[in-house]
Amino acid sequence: MSEGPKRVTLREIARKKREGEKLVVVTAYDVLFARVVDAAGVDIVLVGDSVGNVVAGFDSTLPVKLDQMIYHGAAVRRGIKHALLVVDMPFLSYQASVERAILNSGRVLQETLADAVKVEGGNPEMVNTVSALTRTGIPVMAHLGFTPQSVRTLGMRIQGREHGDADRLVDEAKALESAGAFSIVLELLPAEVAERITSAVTIPTIGIGAGPHCDGQVLVLPDLLGLNDGFAPKFLKKYANIAETAREAVSKYAEEVRSGVYPDADHSN
Ligand code: KIV
Repeated sequence: MSEGPKRVTLREIARKKREGEKLVVVTAYDVLFARVVDAAGVDIVLVGDSVGNVVAGFDSTLPVKLDQMIYHGAAVRRGIKHALLVVDMPFLSYQASVERAILNSGRVLQETLADAVKVEGGNPEMVNTVSALTRTGIPVMAHLGFTPQSVRTLGMRIQGREHGDADRLVDEAKALESAGAFSIVLELLPAEVAERITSAVTIPTIGIGAGPHCDGQVLVLPDLLGLNDGFAPKFLKKYANIAETAREAVSKYAEEVRSGVYPDADHSN
C-alpha cells in the first residue's frame, strides 16, 4: 500500500532551520494551483490576504474579509497532501482584542483545516496576541518589516532603514519567538537587517524582498508565474510567462470558434 507524500510538520520546519536547509514557501488561493505547488514539493503554502490584490484586483489587502480567507483556505486545503498550510488572518480579524484573535484564528483552523495562521506586526500588543494564540494551541507565523495591512501608515516601501529600526526589528523578532511564533516573514527589508534578525532567532525567517540571508523565501504565486502582468518590483524573479501563454491559448480558441475549426469531429459526441 502506498503511504503517499509525508506531511510537512512544524517540527520539520524547525529542523530545517537547525540544519541550514532553505525553506520554500509560496502562496496559493485555489485548489488547482494548490495541487500544482504541492506536487512541486514546496514546504509551506500560504493562503495570503494578497488574494485581495492579485485575485480580486484591490489596491491593498485591507478589503479582504475573514469569510473570504476561510473560503480560499478551505479550497487550498483540498489541493494539498504534503505542504504545511498557513492561512493569513485578514485586517481587523485579530487586532481589536486578544479574544477576537483567538476566536477568529480558531475559526480559521476549524473551517479550513489549516495548520497555522499568520498575523502581522511585532508591537507589544501583537506579541501578547501571539502568545495567547500559541497558548490556545494555534500555531502562528509572524510577519515583520513591510506589513501590508499597515500600508496606509507605512507606505509601500523598504522598511528598516531609519536610525534604530534594525535594533527594534531584532527585538520584535526575539519577542515573537519567545511568544511562541514558529516562523517570521520578513518583507521589504535591507538584506543586512534581515541577516541580523535571522541570526538573532532560532525560528526560521522567510524573506520576500529581504535578500538572500533568510532561512527561506516566499513569493506570491501569480507574480512568480508571470500571471500578474504589471507587477515588477526589483526582488521579483518571474519563472514563467503564464499570462502570455494563456493569452495565446484563448486567442487560438477564439480564432477556431469563429472560423468553425472547433469543435471538429474529434471533439464532438
Ligand atoms: O499575503 C501574502 O501573500 C503575504 C506574503 C507576501 C508573505 O503576506
